[in-house]
Amino acid sequence: MTAPIRYATATAQPNIALVKYWGKRDDELNLPAAGSLSVTLDALHTRTSVRFDPALDADDVLLNGERDAAQTRKIGAFLDLFRARAGVETRARVESGNDFPTGAGLASSASGFAALAVAADRALGLNLASRELSLLARRGSGSAARSIFGGFVEMAAGKREDGEDAFAAPLLDAVAWPLEVVVAITTRAKKAITSRDGMDHTRKTSPFYRDWIATANADLGDARVAVLARDFDKLARLGEASCLAMHAVMLSARPGLIYWNAATLDCMRCIHALRREGAGVFFTIDAGPQVKAVCLPGHAARVAAALREVQGVEEAQISGLGEGARVEAGA
Ligand code: PMV
Repeated sequence: MTAPIRYATATAQPNIALVKYWGKRDDELNLPAAGSLSVTLDALHTRTSVRFDPALDADDVLLNGERDAAQTRKIGAFLDLFRARAGVETRARVESGNDFPTGAGLASSASGFAALAVAADRALGLNLASRELSLLARRGSGSAARSIFGGFVEMAAGKREDGEDAFAAPLLDAVAWPLEVVVAITTRAKKAITSRDGMDHTRKTSPFYRDWIATANADLGDARVAVLARDFDKLARLGEASCLAMHAVMLSARPGLIYWNAATLDCMRCIHALRREGAGVFFTIDAGPQVKAVCLPGHAARVAAALREVQGVEEAQISGLGEGARVEAGA
């Protein structure tokens, strides 16, 4: 009797780090050098279907309708972690799509690997606990470990060499503090340097790398306290400081990594001006030129309207905080 076809579809949303992760303590296992803290969004989605089919000779991966040999290898290696646990060799067809720009600093790898982890787990009937799914998602992309959960999420750097203590966990529910995030898109182009390459280059060449890691660990503890106390001003100070320190260490790599464009800087100035006028808002920026404005409930419409007026901003989308990765359908 031939083995059955097993499939599942899952959805996940990107998360935006407020205390940033930039640097690995182990490349192979994708272990972060410091912890991080994020919010999971609800307005941007990745939807991923995985179908383990005994008739397939090789994995077949379609990302936003396109095949790419390097991505197929990476996703095949990721699926191997699940196949090993299930004790199967069956190849899979993966179809994944985003309703937002891919690879442009909008955390598409976070939602992508979180959705794939959840779909593969269901399709193979593994029924892993969410902590285990977070550990596995981390192997695809460090930030994906956080998108397994919704609301405010903390990722532990861990200390163990096998990485079994490097996983994310929920910190506070979205409903407990329903902040909003305005995502200002300043370009839809893909970034030139991936996070993985950028982190590696920064660790190897920046004279400030060690200080950056020490700062990140200290900021994480303070930000955790700020989130649990719902202290927006404190979180705003820490969030902008963590973002700017990460970009400072990127800039200090040799040669320096510049992820911003002119509109990125103008958005930052616009957000500071809004804050001086009383708006509850702070910015954060990942490895790309898009600006995310984190807002107190009720402030996002005003912030989005102002950001849309900034030259070079193509779109400003408002998002609430959302849930973690979940199965939509499966057999
Ligand atoms: O895990 P990756 O490869 O998606 O890297 C994430 C890096 C940043 O987005 C810049 C920071 C973060 O903590 O998400």
